[in-house]
Amino acid sequence: MQIPTKKLQNGFEMPVFGLGTYKMGEADKQADITAVKTAIELGVAHIDTAEAYAAGVAEKIVGEAIQGYDRSKLFLVSKAAAASLTYAGIKQAVENSLDRMRTDYLDLYLMHRCPLPQFMAECVRAMDELIDAKKVKHAGLSDTNTEHTKQLQVLSKHRFVATQAHYNLVVREVQREGLLDYCQSNDMLLIAWRPISKGGYTKNGMDFTKPGIAVLDDLCQKYHKTPAQIAINWLVSQHNVVTLSKTSTISHLKDNLGAIGWQMDPTDITRLNQEFPGQRFISDTVPLG
Ligand SMILES: NC(=O)c1ccc[n+]([C@@H]2O[C@H](COP(=O)([O-])OP(=O)(O)OC[C@H]3O[C@@H](n4cnc5c(N)ncnc54)[C@H](OP(=O)(O)O)[C@@H]3O)[C@@H](O)[C@H]2O)c1
Repeated sequence: MQIPTKKLQNGFEMPVFGLGTYKMGEADKQADITAVKTAIELGVAHIDTAEAYAAGVAEKIVGEAIQGYDRSKLFLVSKAAAASLTYAGIKQAVENSLDRMRTDYLDLYLMHRCPLPQFMAECVRAMDELIDAKKVKHAGLSDTNTEHTKQLQVLSKHRFVATQAHYNLVVREVQREGLLDYCQSNDMLLIAWRPISKGGYTKNGMDFTKPGIAVLDDLCQKYHKTPAQIAINWLVSQHNVVTLSKTSTISHLKDNLGAIGWQMDPTDITRLNQEFPGQRFISDTVPLG
């Protein structure tokens, strides 16, 4: 299938849906490689990884899986870990990632957390230099609050085109904190991570994979879609929002891809915004910092 893209006014463009790799490399590596390859076969270009995932093994899985595919058709993303957020640390981290992923550039490179205040300027300089050196095409942020995002943008020569944050039907921190508005008003993409909350919300007794949430049940029936498909579609229906889900299970991959290529009525999007139960306004995993 052809996965649509979103394009910013500054020209940056990326697919609305990608494959995550958090936890890949920790169990059945062959199943992970097969999942990445199958995703590519099914039209997924955006593959998201990080030096921190399985201590670099997730990047190696991506590197192995992409062999034999046209690199120019892929959209590869990786991230410099919190411990790498200095000028020298970022420069070294990107070389390690490129080696492990067996590629000579990344389409998007993120700082996995907000750098400490005393390292902000040098980290931004390192990211700018990576773009100048064509090691990365674009730079972005992750889990950085609005105020820090603004500060980092001012320092940046090339500007940050995207930021990752925990955002789904339950975790609404980016709505209340202001990061979503900031991205939508400042030509930046928000890449929503954990769109289906790892398959379920057991803490609140909710599970996207099972019936039981009235508004979700209604919409699943109305559109003949699964809960995961409604949850992902709700994200990509929003201005300047794209998302990505991790799976090593081919049936889940196909389920998630069924979220793309159709639209809900605006009234149903509003219902999900307002009626979805158990909303939280701070991430229980990585709050914006
Ligand atoms: N920047 C950051 O700080 C940050 C933080 C977290 C995540 N991320 C990125 O975002 C990606 C997505 O987030 P995530 O992996 O945390 O959460 P997620 O994609 O919401 O959930 C992944 C989990 O849900 C299961 N799953 C996937 N599709 C399913 C389906 N259709 N039905 C039932 N279960 C399903 C997967 O298991 P199976 O493998 O068995 O399908 C996996 O355990 C990550 O992989 C990572 O690349 C970034």
